[in-house]
Amino acid sequence: MTTKVESQVAELVEPFAGKPTELIQALHRVQAELGYVSEEAQRTVAELLGVPLSQVHEVVTFYHFFRTSPVGKHTIRLCLGTACYVRGAERILEALREELEVNLGGTSSDGLFTLEGVRCLGACGLAPVMMVDEEVYGRLTPDRVREIIKEYRESE
Ligand code: FES
Repeated sequence: MTTKVESQVAELVEPFAGKPTELIQALHRVQAELGYVSEEAQRTVAELLGVPLSQVHEVVTFYHFFRTSPVGKHTIRLCLGTACYVRGAERILEALREELEVNLGGTSSDGLFTLEGVRCLGACGLAPVMMVDEEVYGRLTPDRVREIIKEYRESE
């Protein structure tokens, strides 16, 4: 039986059916319409374009702009640029990973946070820096990050 996602994806990638060289285009189209490229969507794209599923996985993993899960209510953008890196962005990333139990590009299981890494937020003087949606948080420490996450959780 065809699932809803399968038929949605089939309709979206119909113009690329049987054209393995159009894989990236097809994935872009799926993400633009559905918001992310789920495992099921990847399988459908692989079948319709005639490419191995492993190749679809590789492309989705290699290009960071592809998402494999829905976006959380809040998007955390952690700066991994040079100034922030020198001032301990890695420790901040570790704290976020532990607190949210996700890797970069992932969404917490409560659906509240999506964690992304970015190159520079243009606030290097405040390094290390992250943004939660439109809010900028600077001079972060692992403890401060945990506090911020807690505040967001409590405000739900
Ligand atoms: S390097 Fe982090 S804000 Fe510029």
